[in-house]
Amino acid sequence: MHHDASLLDALRAAIGAAHVLTDVADTAAYATDWRRLYEGRPAAVLRPGSTAEVAAVVRLCGAAGAALVPQGGNTSMVGGATPSESGREFVLSLGRLNRIRDLDPIDQTLSIEAGATLHAGQQAALEADCLLPLAIGSQGSAQIGGVLSTNAGGNNTLRYGNAREMVLGLEVVLPDGQVWDGLRRLRKDNTGYCLRQLFVGAEGTLGVITAAVLKLQPRPRQSALAFCAVASEDAALALFTRCHRADPAAVQAFEYMGGLGVALVLRHIPGTSLPLAMPAAHYALIELATPRADADLSAQLEALLAGALAEGIVQDAVIAASEAQAQAIWRLREEHSEAQKRAGASIKNDISVPVSRVPALLREARAACEALLPGVRVVAFGHLGDGNIHFNLEQPEAMAAADFLARDHEIMDTVNAVVRRLGGSFSAEHGVGRLKPYMMPDWRGGAELDLMRRIKQAIDPQDIMNPGKLLPPR
Ligand code: MLT
Ligand code: ZN
Repeated sequence: MHHDASLLDALRAAIGAAHVLTDVADTAAYATDWRRLYEGRPAAVLRPGSTAEVAAVVRLCGAAGAALVPQGGNTSMVGGATPSESGREFVLSLGRLNRIRDLDPIDQTLSIEAGATLHAGQQAALEADCLLPLAIGSQGSAQIGGVLSTNAGGNNTLRYGNAREMVLGLEVVLPDGQVWDGLRRLRKDNTGYCLRQLFVGAEGTLGVITAAVLKLQPRPRQSALAFCAVASEDAALALFTRCHRADPAAVQAFEYMGGLGVALVLRHIPGTSLPLAMPAAHYALIELATPRADADLSAQLEALLAGALAEGIVQDAVIAASEAQAQAIWRLREEHSEAQKRAGASIKNDISVPVSRVPALLREARAACEALLPGVRVVAFGHLGDGNIHFNLEQPEAMAAADFLARDHEIMDTVNAVVRRLGGSFSAEHGVGRLKPYMMPDWRGGAELDLMRRIKQAIDPQDIMNPGKLLPPR
């Protein structure tokens, strides 16, 4: 035991002995990340049951100088919620704070605790005939606190924005143990610095989000979904532009998938099948949706696809004829991460560029990676409609996983050189976590990183909140 035994005793007294986990069998699931990039060693896993208990934990740990790693559904792609190997950091699991506090269908707001899953929030909204417009592959496990702390993006960003755009209010436990109750649900509130946005995307480095007020949208009454084989990267963009020009308010999702990613899903995920006659090198998924009752989105989508087929932009397409078929098509997209995990070692680049440059990004990054590592397999897919591509790489067939992974920085840097040339970002929606702080000086150096460090220093002078994440060591 690295910490004083009296700290553990005090924590047990504060939140109940049953909620302080120290046996390796109990803590193992919290010690490693979904991708299994890191194997941490927590001092203990703490599972407080209320905001007041979170504050008590933070105060006790602060007094002892002990670091806390907030953790929600543990679905980070960048090791953002995994403790270090030191044995000194406490995992602060928010899972027991999982209540829906309030839903107001007139204000269109949802007040929800950090440990509720995103899926639970979506369901609560649907029951009130509203939409919580944030959709990500991990929504069944990912929790609100983590989703906000990483400013998650997902499939509907092109229409509704990132998680950040949905936050009206927050409740946060600050590193000194104070509770900031900022759970306002105002659409207008100009009262100085927008503090809540500091904590959104801060990856747990400034405090612990314990609850939030989220902005809801009207629930779509109608939707239409198409899965298309497209002729090229440029054709995928041309198809998106057409959808957007035809009816920008109806485009709910526009996703790109390269041929290899879809092939991996078909090979590794039972129950999936290709709804087209022949495999292709490029696919697009289009979803239209509207809260209007009088629209005919299927007819609209059909007309759009007929035009695109006639011009050779689209080679083949299917429009989902039932909810079951729509779900089967979405699975081809959403199972990409799981399929890649089953296929072997992979290196992920969660990158963004201006939408107009996505085709150039896809082509140039592929060429650069193939030149660096012949035989490397490009699994590129993602949110073409907002410019965020998951430019992921699978090990060459003949290469050992460890040898491939040992070259991760080299490969990420190669992709990032292209991203930089195209005016993009090295981190679009997954965050920086533990994987990418080394990139920060290069990308956000100078005044920007300096300001971030000063904010961190002002709010968490002891560096007890998720140390080693987001900001690079000095
Ligand atoms: C997704 O959009 O499916 C994930 O964010 C991508 C990934 O696994 O890289
Ligand atoms: Zn994504």
